[in-house]
Formats: sequence, structure tokens, C-alpha cells
Amino acid sequence: MRPGPFSALPVEFVGSFPNPTVRLSPTLPEFIMLGRSNVGKSSLLNALFGRRLARVSDTPGRTALINVYRLAGFYLLDLPGYGFARVSHRERDRYQKLVRDLLRQRTTLTGVVWLLDLRRDPSPEDQEHADMLAERGLPVLAALTKADKLPYAQRQRRLRELIQALALPPEQVQLTSSTTGLGINELGESLLAVTAREGTA
Ligand code: GTP
Ligand code: MG
Repeated sequence: MRPGPFSALPVEFVGSFPNPTVRLSPTLPEFIMLGRSNVGKSSLLNALFGRRLARVSDTPGRTALINVYRLAGFYLLDLPGYGFARVSHRERDRYQKLVRDLLRQRTTLTGVVWLLDLRRDPSPEDQEHADMLAERGLPVLAALTKADKLPYAQRQRRLRELIQALALPPEQVQLTSSTTGLGINELGESLLAVTAREGTA
């Protein structure tokens, strides 16, 4: 596995939690990894860590648990993906409640890494999550994933289109590929910058 921006740092898997307001000790800045199922959340975490800690799967739609990783000065929370078609209504309701409660009630949240597939247009569910993020007013870093799947010119075009569609400042939108490492260091730096900024606010 190629080195990542946090390769040299210790990373600890804290645990898997069903409760969106679970208290983590010590209190540190927290970021969630949010995005539709299969968008590449766990792969991106592993690319940041420079090691395989998060489980990557080809079969989405697993239990709605929050997987928590602790780095030197902050936590990363891997959430289950939304938008997976083949789950029961009950599971979908449970998932929606988990994310809604987390975004509304989790006072310790510092920021969000919001993942979108570079090749797709934002779905209605992406838009619903965008609205919840706007409501909460958290700093958002959008990671456009799987950039390796497009040639350079198309990549740049999609980047411009998605910056428009998401109505986010360009500096908050990053092309990424967990496969080639594109944009992973930059994303790591952005996370550290938000941590430093929010920590001193
Ligand atoms: P859930 O946990 O099920 O919601 O999925 P996830 O968002 O964590 O996605 P995951 O990291 O498990 O990746 C899903 C699939 O996409 C896997 O087959 C990965 O190998 C693939 N994948 C993830 N990132 C990339 C990437 O940057 N490039 C390419 N080509 N494939 C990727
Ligand atoms: Mg995952």
C-alpha cells in the first residue's frame, strides 16, 4: 500500500458504535466521512492512513455503525453509506435516523469530508445531505472520488461542473483517487488546516 499523509502517525481503531451521540474520550476535533454507498469512503481513509485499517467491500449495505479512528489530534468517523438500493425500509430508516441525529445532535463535530463520485451527478440523496450540512453549518471538504477512472481533460471538466453544482468554494473541493494517491496529501493537509483553525476558534 502506498504511503499516505498520516503514514508516519499512529492511528488507533477506537471501535464501532450504533449511538450517534456516543462520547469519545479524550475530546478532540471530529470529522465524519459522509457519502453514498460504494463511493469510496473506506478506501479514502486507508489512503490517508497509508495502511489498510478500514474495511473495503464490493457488497455495500451493512449494519449502521459508526467506525471511529483516532489520529494524533483528531478523530475520523467512518459512516455507513447512503443510497444503497437493496436494503429494507427498516434499515434505510435506521440509517437516516443515525445520520440525521448525528448531524443535528453531535456537538463535538468539527467538519465533514463529503465524498462524491467524480463521474456522477449529485443524486437527490446527495442533495438532501447537502441541505442537512448547510443547516448545521459545518466546514465541508468535498472529495471527488475515483478520479483515476477518467482521463485528465474529462477530470478537469467534471471538477468544474461539480464545483458549480455543489455551490462550494473551489478550495473546498478536491479531486481524489485512493488508487493512484491523487489529491490524498492535499486532503490530509486540508483536514489538518480545519483542525488547527477550529481548535483555536
Ligand atoms: P460502503 O462502506 O459500502 O458505503 O462503501 P465505501 O464508500 O466505504 O466504499 P469502499 O471504500 O468500500 O469502495 C467501494 C469500491 O470502490 C471498492 O471496490 C473499491 O476498491 C473501489 N474504489 C474505492 N476508491 C477507488 C478509487 O479511488 N479508484 C478506483 N478505481 N476504485 C476505487
Ligand atoms: Mg465503507
